[in-house]
Amino acid sequence: MNDKSMFSLLAHRNLGVVAPGGGHREADPDARALRLSVARLNEAQRIARIGSWELDLVDGRLTWSDEIFNLFEIDKRQFGATYEAFLNAIHPEDRDAVNAAYTRSLETQTPYEISHRLLMADGRIKHVHEHCESDFDASGKPLRSVGTVQDISDLKRAEFALEQSEAKLLLLNSELEDRVKARTAELQAANAELTDSLERLRQARTQLVQSEKMAALGGLVAGVAHEINTPLGIGVTAASHLELKVRHLGERFRTGALSRADMEGFLGTAAESSEMVLSNLKRAAELIRSFKQVAVDQTGEHRRRFKLKDYLGEVLLSLSPQINRTRHSVSLECPPELELDGYPGSFSQIVTNLLLNSLLHGFDGVDAGHVTIRVGELSQELLLTYADDGRGIAAEHLPHVFEPFYTTKRGQGGSGLGLHIVYNIVTQKLGGSITCESSPGNGVVFEIRVPRPVPMRGAQNAVDGAPTHAF
Ligand SMILES: Nc1ncnc2c1ncn2[C@@H]1O[C@H](COP(=O)(O)OP(=O)(O)OP(=O)(O)O)[C@@H](O)[C@H]1O
Ligand SMILES: [Mg+2]
Repeated sequence: MNDKSMFSLLAHRNLGVVAPGGGHREADPDARALRLSVARLNEAQRIARIGSWELDLVDGRLTWSDEIFNLFEIDKRQFGATYEAFLNAIHPEDRDAVNAAYTRSLETQTPYEISHRLLMADGRIKHVHEHCESDFDASGKPLRSVGTVQDISDLKRAEFALEQSEAKLLLLNSELEDRVKARTAELQAANAELTDSLERLRQARTQLVQSEKMAALGGLVAGVAHEINTPLGIGVTAASHLELKVRHLGERFRTGALSRADMEGFLGTAAESSEMVLSNLKRAAELIRSFKQVAVDQTGEHRRRFKLKDYLGEVLLSLSPQINRTRHSVSLECPPELELDGYPGSFSQIVTNLLLNSLLHGFDGVDAGHVTIRVGELSQELLLTYADDGRGIAAEHLPHVFEPFYTTKRGQGGSGLGLHIVYNIVTQKLGGSITCESSPGNGVVFEIRVPRPVPMRGAQNAVDGAPTHAF
């Protein structure tokens, strides 16, 4: 141990003690003022939990303030300030460090400060922070040391708590990061699964669309066969009947047994049969023409620019023989300058089918019905609203009206293809949509939305394909 260590400096001295405060009542006012001042200092130290000490290194006298006694938990009335008591109070593990700091400060003649622990008799630990300064004579010999001891236990506890919560926070943070990583991985897996099932769904939908198409095609073919079977069957029967009659006539002619009555009978039958053959063949041909339209043949008509109002006016004019026979009326509302770049024949087919339906179904039993065709321009599309004030459509028929061969007039001129054709034209050829609203007694409202194509610059005016009507 160094010569100048606190231990060695004090080891052989007989330490005197000066305990401030206490004593008797002085008559001397100066002494009283001094005592009051000491009392105030003690009070201040108690509140701040800072004790002070002084060591006279010449005569070895050690002085403690009251707060040092409090800090070291030593009863001032029983024990004085002793270096042993000081040493005992320092935590054994910190004694060397405290000593070394003091020794170094004497050697270097510089103040020092140090934090260390105190170990109380009952095992409790206190944390203190010490400051110390010393005076030296000209030769460098230490004369006196003064110091303060501050109880920083609360601070240490707070620091400790802070460290604990920081550590907890770090732990939580890393747990959180782990959880986030795990969640991210789970989400990625879920996402991959979702993408996968979406892809499977897409494939399934494609297959479904394919098989629906096949089913629709199958239904259409069956319907076509069924529809055509009737006129062809009647035609064949009439033709074979005529053939039989011709054979009979030939035999009678060859045997010379042909009478005038035979000839007249034959002519009647022949006229009847050929009439029947012809009308049924016509019906079959008509049906075939309709079936062809179901397929919405796009190659048949050229695309061109046309004014919709003028064009629809012509279509209505072509239908006027049917309309004028009745007391029904049609009104057309369309911006006169509205120009379209597309297929005029499609609009003719649509309006013709809808109008014939109003005449055949909507106005069946109605004296003077009215049809309104209204065309409006929306930002990106054209809205054609077709309405009649006829009988309307029953709820059970409404969901089926666009299906092929769905008709409520089978055997009375209806084959159930008109609205199917309209639907195909609107959705396939014009890329739009069509809805039908109706209830019995309230007429029908068809809303047709068609996207407006970008005007084609420099497009040639192609020859207008003659509008073909379904019926
Ligand atoms: N304006 C309307 N008013 C009342 N019912 C209608 C009207 N338009 C269509 N319908 C109903 O919808 C059904 C289907 O119409 P669609 O045009 O497809 O066939 P259709 O007119 O019966 O036969 P086709 O048009 O092939 O001659 C009709 O049979 C009829 O019941
Ligand atoms: Mg129809």
